[in-house]
Amino acid sequence: MNFNSLILAYFDENKRDLPWRATNDPFKIWLSEIILQQTRVDQGMKFYHDFTCEFETIFDLAAADEQKVLRLWQGLGYYSRARNLHATAMHLAQECNGIFPTDFAELKKLKGIGDYTAAAIASIAFQQAVPAVDGNMYRVFSRYFNIENDLSASATKKIFWDIGMEVIDPKRPGDFNQAIMDLGATICTPKNFQCDRCPLNESCEALRLNKVATLPIKTKKTKVSNRFFHFIIMEDQQRVILSKRTGKDVWQNLYTFPLIETETDLLDHGWVIDKQLDAALSFVSEEKHILSHQNLFIKFWELPLKEEELIDLSTLENNLFVDLDSLDEFPFPKPIEKIINSKYFD
Ligand code: ADE
Repeated sequence: MNFNSLILAYFDENKRDLPWRATNDPFKIWLSEIILQQTRVDQGMKFYHDFTCEFETIFDLAAADEQKVLRLWQGLGYYSRARNLHATAMHLAQECNGIFPTDFAELKKLKGIGDYTAAAIASIAFQQAVPAVDGNMYRVFSRYFNIENDLSASATKKIFWDIGMEVIDPKRPGDFNQAIMDLGATICTPKNFQCDRCPLNESCEALRLNKVATLPIKTKKTKVSNRFFHFIIMEDQQRVILSKRTGKDVWQNLYTFPLIETETDLLDHGWVIDKQLDAALSFVSEEKHILSHQNLFIKFWELPLKEEELIDLSTLENNLFVDLDSLDEFPFPKPIEKIINSKYFD
């Protein structure tokens, strides 16, 4: 049996029963694919459920406030995905009667839809034979076919795409792509792979050559920078000052407490608000938050202020005074959500 028949036979026997597999609706398939780029299937289910309950159709998503969409996305990270999701829903609802293009190249023209997502939607919703090249496909192909091309090289993607085009089942392209996702998520995993259980083990080149652990090859590590964030919590009994992040930086359009970013871990005492207001910061808590390209070293500080000072600060640009009871209307990054839900805010 060839790769194609083996992987489809595996899928027919072992396919995971997932909610987005029970629909042909491109809107829901698109939603699931964007969510699953951010999180694993088990966690993605909750988000998929929340989104599809809140937005039954693309028109419902298009009509929502961006803030609401970001709030539902809260915890998934990479919030530009949610903003693009919303922008594309508005575009399709307003310009295309809410109808998705059915072709890979047309899908790719939409905001937030790249090669992978376009191929996933085209193959799963519209049976177009295009390979959804993601980390799973790199891993499964590189091992099964013993491909040693470096994933860090820009030309490599096309090599995997070409193999995908060659081996994809034209009659069942969506199942083919999802079979690779399932195998890659459960058996042909990065570590702790389970070759003894793998339905493709008799013809896997990497297994025969004892190279499963070294494939795929990726030489360059992602560059990661360190940043030091100090969030200043200023509140009275009922309200707290929030600040909306507007710049082109992490967490755009989400809310945090007012932030001071420093070059090192230290927050020096020359800090302007501290000086002007003659109030002392007291340390609350700290944590490290890891993003794909940044390590954020976060400290929370509390600044006790007089009522008039609080009001003054809350009128600064992008700041707002928010009732503690209505915090659940705002989209927050994970570390902020965590402290809001902690004992500190009880
Ligand atoms: N990961 C990304 N898309 C997926 C899908 N359709 N099924 C399972 N896992 C996935």
